[in-house]
Amino acid sequence: MSTKMWAGRFSKEVDDRVNDFNSSVSFDARMYRHDIQGSVAHATMLGECGIIDKSESDAIIGGLNGILADLDSGKLSIDPDAEDIHMFVEAELTRRLGDTGKRLHTARSRNDQVALDIRMYLRDEIKEIVSYVEQLIRTLVKLAENNLETIMPGYTHMQRAQPVTFAHHLMAYAQMLLRDKSRLEDTYKRMNVMPLGSGALASTTYPIDRQRVCDLLGFDEISQNSLDGVSDRDFCIELAGAVSILMMHLSRFSEEIILWCSWEFKFIELDDAFATGSSIMPQKKNPDVTELIRGKTSRVYGDLNTLLTMMKGTPLAYNKDMQEDKPAIFDAVDTVKLCLKTFIPMLDTMKVLPENMRSAAAKGFINATDCADYLVKKGLPFRDAYKITGSLVAVCIEKSLTLEELPLSEYKKLCETFEQDVYEAIDLKNCVMLRNVPGGPAPEQVKKQIAYTRKKLDENN
Ligand code: ARG
Repeated sequence: MSTKMWAGRFSKEVDDRVNDFNSSVSFDARMYRHDIQGSVAHATMLGECGIIDKSESDAIIGGLNGILADLDSGKLSIDPDAEDIHMFVEAELTRRLGDTGKRLHTARSRNDQVALDIRMYLRDEIKEIVSYVEQLIRTLVKLAENNLETIMPGYTHMQRAQPVTFAHHLMAYAQMLLRDKSRLEDTYKRMNVMPLGSGALASTTYPIDRQRVCDLLGFDEISQNSLDGVSDRDFCIELAGAVSILMMHLSRFSEEIILWCSWEFKFIELDDAFATGSSIMPQKKNPDVTELIRGKTSRVYGDLNTLLTMMKGTPLAYNKDMQEDKPAIFDAVDTVKLCLKTFIPMLDTMKVLPENMRSAAAKGFINATDCADYLVKKGLPFRDAYKITGSLVAVCIEKSLTLEELPLSEYKKLCETFEQDVYEAIDLKNCVMLRNVPGGPAPEQVKKQIAYTRKKLDENN
């Protein structure tokens, strides 16, 4: 006799290879808490609606809680040969309660059960990821507050362009992360819909109370269509999408950190605890953490692609293809958590080297726009001012001087309008101070940006 719960219509044992191939317990075992919570809610409702006896419902709830406690404490371990976590819990319940345990699955299918479990599991994951994102933003805010006047070159095309501050640069990432947080919260909202009661695909003939299960499990609403309820995996794709964008941001930031700790930049130095050495080159201190984040980003993109591709050809409703949702989405959330957990303290402990940023800013003529603007403010058309400044830069390059070092006489050779006050206009600190419009790098504006960011963080906490 087959040991399978669904063995009734089969005359042969399942081939061992099919058994192994079919089993998802190696990766869905991690949902055991959510599976049991969902079953407790289901059993409660079945008892309340008179679909099973109240006494049986109570026994099932007691049995499930016992299994949960034993799994949590390690007294009970999950059978690696089980078909999946749902079958394992049910079989264990029946082992403990006998016939009563067999009543749990009334008015339910594994199809709506698994749809419920993943949503419950991922809700918790989203909360955790959001809390890491918030921690990261707070770390950035703290760093920014300490570097409001730390002048550094801003870049376009990886060429020094105009002066900004380190605070302003960091706060750009804080804005990206605020959007990540909002994307994750948005995903949560659409995920927080209760599918149980969809049955295998066409709901059930039992007089169930879906709203009761919804309330017991803290969902916002019940799903509206049973076919969709069992076969929707949009929320996995959305989460993988939100997490991919978040990883893309972390990866861009990582790339900058890798550059900044090179000898060519030396804008920052990583703490020894967050860098690694080389097995052959004794002088090396490598930014492995950031390189790994850059590398792991591709992995999360792969997970997103897996989910999109897995779903594109599946007809309604449930298909076993969908079992592949879990390795992909679990990998995506595990990876992003791992990255955030390491990135935050790495950032928090790194040493900022303001003098190096300042001396990089002194080179590259990043005040050339300000020099042109000086002439514009004295009445010249911008295009003429632009041309004159271009010629001044050429003179400086020829003489190996910066605009600050070039004597006034040279300025006057190209344009009589230049006076002594040009040096004030091209002073890097003034260049930053004068960019005093909302969204600009002037410390006064960055302080406002920080206040805005803090407010956004506190809004839904
Ligand atoms: N382990 C399955 C999954 O992850 C559970 C649902 C199985 N349903 C079925 N009809 N075989 O998707």
